[in-house]
Amino acid sequence: MKKQTVIITGANSGIGKSATRLFADAGFSVIMACRNIEKSEPVRKEIVEISGNPQVQLMPLDISSFHSIRTFCDRFDEKYDQLDILIHNAAYFSHGSPYKLSEDGLELTFATNLFGPFLMTMELHDLLKKSDTPKILMAGSNIIKHFFNPKLAVNLNNLRGENPDDSSFKVYNQYRDSKMALFMISRRFADYFQPDGIRVNMLQINGATMSEEALQKVTPGYRMIARIQNLFFRPPEFMAKHYFEICTSDKFKDVSGKLINHKQQVMQSSKKHPGIANQVRQLAGAVYYPNYAEGRQAQDEIWNFCLNVTGLDTEDR
Ligand SMILES: NC(=O)c1ccc[n+]([C@@H]2O[C@H](COP(=O)([O-])OP(=O)(O)OC[C@H]3O[C@@H](n4cnc5c(N)ncnc54)[C@H](OP(=O)(O)O)[C@@H]3O)[C@@H](O)[C@H]2O)c1
Repeated sequence: MKKQTVIITGANSGIGKSATRLFADAGFSVIMACRNIEKSEPVRKEIVEISGNPQVQLMPLDISSFHSIRTFCDRFDEKYDQLDILIHNAAYFSHGSPYKLSEDGLELTFATNLFGPFLMTMELHDLLKKSDTPKILMAGSNIIKHFFNPKLAVNLNNLRGENPDDSSFKVYNQYRDSKMALFMISRRFADYFQPDGIRVNMLQINGATMSEEALQKVTPGYRMIARIQNLFFRPPEFMAKHYFEICTSDKFKDVSGKLINHKQQVMQSSKKHPGIANQVRQLAGAVYYPNYAEGRQAQDEIWNFCLNVTGLDTEDR
């Protein structure tokens, strides 16, 4: 059988690194798409040595930069005939940090967690189409539970540097909104790519221990909270196994447009906050996500915003 190719963004640490190891162990050709080559090369070498799989390559990618994404995709296109699995694992969650813009002038959390994955997915569409079993997996977060609050909506108002001094700005809220928007876009991608047989799903991650390096990215206050959470969270390998299973197991071969939880259950939308009894069930299984994600109008708005900021709305597709 032909070796399958998988791209994993942010593959140098945490869940991305563990997933790289699993795919390498299973004999995949793995592309680690990472922004810091110097830091990532020792990780690649370590995985090649442990797995005995030389087909683990490192390619530079800053997912917050459209130029970097286009360069990455062009290089990938030159080297590879097709892409079988695309895992959008990289994310920005520097909680407590101030408002920052990407090099394209877009709020950095959204640039990294939504617009970058959107553009990269579109750019790799043709190569995904060539696979017999193409799959895309997004890294989600249980932070979207906040959308059980019916007053909450994804805020697209300050993403182009309109008000950098906004005193209510919080990376935490941007992260929450960008992960919800990414889920809503995943649902749209599932429809959009359905004729090509590309399956698109998201894993809802409800916690994975953060490395010391990852802890340094958040401000001291959030770091303290994260250190406490680390006592309860499972190691990154646990979530990485779910990445692997969702992308390779027969169980998910016909599943698309879904949010999948840490028990590999397909989640369902719920109109209202699941209440005490269901919250206990949630702890055991976390089977519900907020119905807000299903809103066609909000989905359209986010989809059009993505097309507009990436310039894909003016391209002939
Ligand atoms: N850990 C949790 O409790 C938790 C909970 C919910 C969801 N998640 C999600 O799980 C995924 C993996 O997180 P993790 O816990 O494994 O964190 P992590 O160890 O900090 O990994 C994040 C990765 O993303 C990369 N990255 C960030 N910005 C990037 C950019 N602009 N371009 C390219 N790569 C970039 C980082 O690269 P550098 O090393 O260069 O910074 C790093 O490799 C994320 O999507 C996160 O939102 C995690």
